[in-house]
Amino acid sequence: MPRTGPTFFSFPADVLAHSAEVAAVVADLMAEPASVSPKYLYGPLGSRLFDAITELPEYYPTRTERALLEACRDGIAHAAGPAPTLIDLGAGNCEKARSLFQALNPGQYVALDISVDFLRQTLIQLQREFPQLEMLGIGADFSSGLRLPDAVRHDNRLFFYPGSSIGNFTPEQALTFLAGIRAECAGAYGGGLLIGVDLVKSEALLQAAYDDALGVTAAFNLNLLNNLNALIGSDFAVGDWRHHALFNTEASRIEMHLEARRDLSVHWPGGVRAFRQGQRIHTENSYKYALTDFKALLAQAGFSRIQAWTDANNWFALCHAIA
Ligand code: AVI
Repeated sequence: MPRTGPTFFSFPADVLAHSAEVAAVVADLMAEPASVSPKYLYGPLGSRLFDAITELPEYYPTRTERALLEACRDGIAHAAGPAPTLIDLGAGNCEKARSLFQALNPGQYVALDISVDFLRQTLIQLQREFPQLEMLGIGADFSSGLRLPDAVRHDNRLFFYPGSSIGNFTPEQALTFLAGIRAECAGAYGGGLLIGVDLVKSEALLQAAYDDALGVTAAFNLNLLNNLNALIGSDFAVGDWRHHALFNTEASRIEMHLEARRDLSVHWPGGVRAFRQGQRIHTENSYKYALTDFKALLAQAGFSRIQAWTDANNWFALCHAIA
């Protein structure tokens, strides 16, 4: 019998109360150096700009990972075992998980995304294509902790975290996050993790990937100021700022910043901050791992039997590990 449709859950209680959220953003803006959480890069326009980034010739991660998923799907299916409960973290348009359906033959597909409304459209369409597959959509910001409803099956959970989003955490945060995933699938029922990770490579390639010739990444970064204006009522003028991306070799991370083009002041209800010309707001880190270091991180989080697949250039890796 085909299913009537996907089931949806959302955890609005996970979202910080508006005033607490504003206070946290303002505290980061007032700090020295100023920073803004990368989650404010996203929103209706930011998510579209990110999708456009994934199509850029300079932005190799998405197409490299897509090709790896295609080339390695039999090996991935073998590692994952029969009928996994496929749990897609940060599902977006669900395209990457969908590319694995045939090989994995999941017993249940669970898609998580910060926006349950966006997921709804995607999953309704996907359910039409795969009418026999049980699907759950969960709207949750899991970056600060994972909580799954009881409806998520316990047997053979396969967490899928593609896109190298793990690189947007510090290594310490990544360790906590990975250990949390392991706790969700460890135990009598078994399970594992399939994760994409971006590897260290030449600075020139990294620099181009985060500062493309068309200026799409610049627009993505600058649009964060529009999101801040909407959230805290500030008067950031996008034209007063420029995108700046650099590779921090010591920390092995790309950093995105917004740099003031002139001396200026930004106001919001109850506050003001002056910025000198050239002063920056740190908006994102994207850590690049050596494969051995990433495997060590997985092992430290409690995973074992770690397998990795990489592309011919060794630019990107897909890792599978048992919980
Ligand atoms: C979502 N995340 C993995 C992207 C990255 O590469 O760190 C976000 C991004 N920032 C600039 N370009 C893409």
